Amino acid sequence: MDKILDGNKLANELNLELKTKIDLLLANNKKRPKLATILVGENPASKVYVNIKHKTCANIGISSIMINLSANISKQELLEKIDTLNRDNTIHGILLQLPLPDGLSKYTSEFIEYIDPNKDVDGFHPINRGKLFDYNEELAACTPKGIITLLESYKIDLKGKNVVIINRSILIGKPLIFMLLKRNATVTICHTSTIDIESHMQKADILIVAVGRPKYITKDKIKEGAIIIDVGTNRVDGKLCGDVDFDDVLDKCGKITPSPGGIGPMTVHSLMQNTLIAYTNQESHRLE
Ligand code: GUN
Repeated sequence: MDKILDGNKLANELNLELKTKIDLLLANNKKRPKLATILVGENPASKVYVNIKHKTCANIGISSIMINLSANISKQELLEKIDTLNRDNTIHGILLQLPLPDGLSKYTSEFIEYIDPNKDVDGFHPINRGKLFDYNEELAACTPKGIITLLESYKIDLKGKNVVIINRSILIGKPLIFMLLKRNATVTICHTSTIDIESHMQKADILIVAVGRPKYITKDKIKEGAIIIDVGTNRVDGKLCGDVDFDDVLDKCGKITPSPGGIGPMTVHSLMQNTLIAYTNQESHRLE
């Protein structure tokens, strides 16, 4: 079992550390950090994710509000909602849950750009993405940040390693490039047009997979001793599973994150961390 990179356990420990910090703030009569989430429409998976985020906020002492909007809301109405949250001094973090419903999804970039970058706890705003270009990870995207926190907590050295990522989104693959380069890894991004993807996977010392295909990674695809980071969460016959065939690769891999119970909780931890960073930046500013 020492092959398991236990994201659940680690996130619980790290969340407890954040709770201690927040308790201390409150003991010193400081304002309570507050996160606002916006959920548009009725996507069942998004509802589950947003509920987990609020539950974790409550557990560690971050106040939170959930704004549920109809899938029929207009672009203007959603922009106005974001504007209200941007101007509200009691709100330190704003998270617009993605994906947006059909009709609004084509404006996703506009909505993200409308969020105050100081409150952008998702790290999706172009300003925060640009800072990552300079290796500033302060408000970086939560899933990549959680992956790096997990690798570093387990003392997995990245220097010179071949890290292969199968994902090129702004949520996962693109931010990971900079975080891994900062730590001197050799980074390869694979995607749907990659020729002979198998040969890349075979060379990976660390393989990070987010393709949304249940049990896509099997023993034959990986190098002996590879570290496998499974970012996938799929529902098959009512049960959750990752993009990696866990039981099949367990013997051959060096270490592996389970899914569920690996990167998911680490992502939520990063959101809590980002909310506290956004809070600290905004509140210290106000005191000047
Ligand atoms: N949808 C899936 N993952 C995420 C995330 O990290 N943030 C937001 N806002 N939406 C998501």
